[in-house]
Amino acid sequence: MNVPGLDHLLTLLRFPSVSTDSRHDGDTRACAEWLRAHLTGLGLQAELHETPGHPILVAKNAHRPGRRTVLLYGHYDVQPAEPLNEWRTPAFEPTIQEGRIFCRGATDNKGQLMAHVQGLSETLAAQAELPVNLTILFEGEEEIGSPNLKPFLEAHRDLLACDVVAISDTGMVAEGVGTFTYGLRGIACLEAIVRGPTIDLHSGIFGGAVANPCTMVGRLAASLHDAEGRVLIPGFYEAVKPLAEWERKAWAELGDGADETLELTGAPQLFGEPGYTERERRWARPTAEVNGIGGGYQGEGSKTVIGKEAFLKLSFRLVPDQDPDQILDLAAAYLEKQLPPAVRLEIRKGHTGSAYLMDPHSDLGRAAQRALEKTFGGQVALIREGGSIPIVQAFKEALGADTLLLGLALPDCQAHAPNENFPIANFIAGARLNQVLLEELR
Ligand code: BES
Ligand code: ZN
Repeated sequence: MNVPGLDHLLTLLRFPSVSTDSRHDGDTRACAEWLRAHLTGLGLQAELHETPGHPILVAKNAHRPGRRTVLLYGHYDVQPAEPLNEWRTPAFEPTIQEGRIFCRGATDNKGQLMAHVQGLSETLAAQAELPVNLTILFEGEEEIGSPNLKPFLEAHRDLLACDVVAISDTGMVAEGVGTFTYGLRGIACLEAIVRGPTIDLHSGIFGGAVANPCTMVGRLAASLHDAEGRVLIPGFYEAVKPLAEWERKAWAELGDGADETLELTGAPQLFGEPGYTERERRWARPTAEVNGIGGGYQGEGSKTVIGKEAFLKLSFRLVPDQDPDQILDLAAAYLEKQLPPAVRLEIRKGHTGSAYLMDPHSDLGRAAQRALEKTFGGQVALIREGGSIPIVQAFKEALGADTLLLGLALPDCQAHAPNENFPIANFIAGARLNQVLLEELR
């Protein structure tokens, strides 16, 4: 199959650019360098900016006064591929099956990012010029909360000055349905470590006389929600505004999402905050999630031990007006109260990012929707998303620019999970989307 630019995407996918894993630092850098060289090859002025972490890539065409400046953001880092034994094809060797590319990063975000790059390449080949001033900003730390991009934004407002940001790193409601996302949830991460005895203990000799950190971590996890799924941390919902009627209606018109979610997840039943539909819960209500829990004996069979410590990894998904740092403070105080003095609690705060919400009916929002309409045909779905792109609200605050989220990910793309995949058709559509979008934004 001869799909223009596909070979470049496959090359990019072969770099195991796992940002959270320092064993892959060399691969992550090589990935950034390959991208820089590729963009240079297209005739753009491309530069890597060093950070204490992974490099930031900035590339531009020749900016001319009087034209709109569009900042195209994407991330070249990926989530870890583990558990590797659940991949049907090698995690970092892109494999094409039934029109889809299977590889870590295929959808999130290399496929979507390269679709735009391919669009640029086609425009530049055809007319040697783009319709707008373009600034490309590709980072290698999105999957770890963009810790270095935030200060970089503040320090390089001039370099990154723009009228609008465009990103393809969100979902489509269904294959072939153009989807405009006007809101993202924010995120705040936290790790709780419970320590009891200073050494592991025989649970027969000492059990009953000292508190067990594993039990206490279970208590913390169980304290987060009531039986129906509402978050119990005092003040957690305080800043949360009700959903707008128009969006509740628009989402209801997309049809009942419950069956699709049951099918995609394989869960025996849905579960969540009463009073909200399944979509409202995922896209516009805040949550507390246990992402990891551990301690004690994890091996085969039984071992009668009281482990000296246990841990809990939490993340909160946040909605507009919730302040991530304040939520972490509220959570830390609440967790502290759940434990007896027989154990000690250490809280490690992790990365944060605010929620984002824009007016989809603004001029720029409408331009983006026209581009989606021209690319996919039919009606464009207007949605919010439950996932987070921590830098988006920072774009608003540091650059004063709204972000147009034009997702190309399918509901069953398996992002962050084994067998992540991206349809070649979406790569082709994304390249076209880039071209019509820049025309619409001209
Ligand atoms: N592409 C996702 C964000 C996303 C996914 C938005 C689905 C909308 C729908 C992004 O790469 C991502 O995974 N972000 C992380 C950020 C976190 C690690 C700070 C997330 O949402 O967990
Ligand atoms: Zn991701």
